[in-house]
Amino acid sequence: MLRIGIIGTGAIADAHIRGWRAFPDDARIVAVADVVPGRAAAKAADAGLGDVSIYEDTDAMLREERLDIVSVVTPPSAHAGVTIAALDAGVHVLVEKPMAPSLEQCDAMLAAQRRSGKVLSVVAQNRFRDDTATLKAVLDSGLIGSVSHVRVDSAWWRGVPYYDLAWRGTWEQEGGGCTLNHAIHHVDLLLWLMGRPSEVTAMLTNAQHDNSAVEDLSVAVLRYERALAQLTSSVVHHGEEQTIVVQGAEASVSQPWSVHADVTQPNGMPAEGGDPARTARIESFAATRAPLAHTGHDGQIDDVIRAVLDGRPPLIDGEQGRAAVELVTAIYEAGIERAHVRLPLTAEDPYYRSAALIERAPRFRAESALDPSLA
Ligand SMILES: NC(=O)c1ccc[n+]([C@@H]2O[C@H](COP(=O)([O-])OP(=O)(O)OC[C@H]3O[C@@H](n4cnc5c(N)ncnc54)[C@H](O)[C@@H]3O)[C@@H](O)[C@H]2O)c1
Repeated sequence: MLRIGIIGTGAIADAHIRGWRAFPDDARIVAVADVVPGRAAAKAADAGLGDVSIYEDTDAMLREERLDIVSVVTPPSAHAGVTIAALDAGVHVLVEKPMAPSLEQCDAMLAAQRRSGKVLSVVAQNRFRDDTATLKAVLDSGLIGSVSHVRVDSAWWRGVPYYDLAWRGTWEQEGGGCTLNHAIHHVDLLLWLMGRPSEVTAMLTNAQHDNSAVEDLSVAVLRYERALAQLTSSVVHHGEEQTIVVQGAEASVSQPWSVHADVTQPNGMPAEGGDPARTARIESFAATRAPLAHTGHDGQIDDVIRAVLDGRPPLIDGEQGRAAVELVTAIYEAGIERAHVRLPLTAEDPYYRSAALIERAPRFRAESALDPSLA
């Protein structure tokens, strides 16, 4: 039985608690930690965890509990410190997204993974969805031909009070706005579907959140060999209509699922009704994909359990967590410097460390407008 610890017991810890408990034959939560006194005990009681150890000091928990795996569910600024301590203590780690606010911290986490030989997985639960898995399978099948364009709308809506929480809405602690903290899910999906772009440009703004210093909207354009992608990252979109649309030479496919296949007339204009046979081929390929046994956080936790028990790498490892942070960093660099940023970003890039971002990012709203007493 794998002994599981939860570090950080705020909002999303519930998804981890549910996830680990979905596999009672393999894993059991034995310890819960949070730096705020009383919080871990309250979460354990609310979740009905029963007889678990409660800690305010993560290092003490790592020393005393002989844990196999921890979920790191702290704010992003604490991910690197806690993850490295856990790996160095010989404990496998599932860390929430974003992996860390800077590439420097991601690389320190990767170094700890390598020296420990333990599993490090970064949460990207949207890969464990049937609609995104179908999109990926269709793309990999080659049925839509070479890709020309991808449109990703990472459309979220958050009201003004969302940014009242002290660590949110700051470049120093949240590490950025919706591009890093909301769109990272879609950034990961885009990288999964298309790989790393060669070049990025972007614009950032804060359209609606007077209590936040970070962006609440960004629009980025990404270059692939011949294709372009556009990524909108937003917490100002009413209705949160999140979409990925991939245009190939033969057809377009999207999530939510739809297929269109145009075909040319002799004069180059699209024929009415498109190509029903091609559409049917793609539809039937998609329909034959077996549904996932577990979805969302449960799906990823299942994968981490199998990786630990079978001694194999997890499906979403630290390199992939880093890749998402790299693309977000490039979007910030492009937006702040009004530049075209080439990838990959190395340690020589000024934005590799948080310091450049913290120093150069625009404060869309004055820090003095933020109320530090709201924790
Ligand atoms: N995958 C998703 O869909 C999803 C959704 C929401 C949040 N998240 C991510 O999960 C993480 C946590 O977000 P949240 O909304 O639960 O935040 P939260 O503020 O509600 O909870 C974080 C908790 O961590 C505790 N904490 C802070 N530093 C700590 C440390 N060093 N050791 C132990 N505990 C510490 C805080 O006291 C707090 O209780 C963030 O990285 C966030 O981006 C992911």
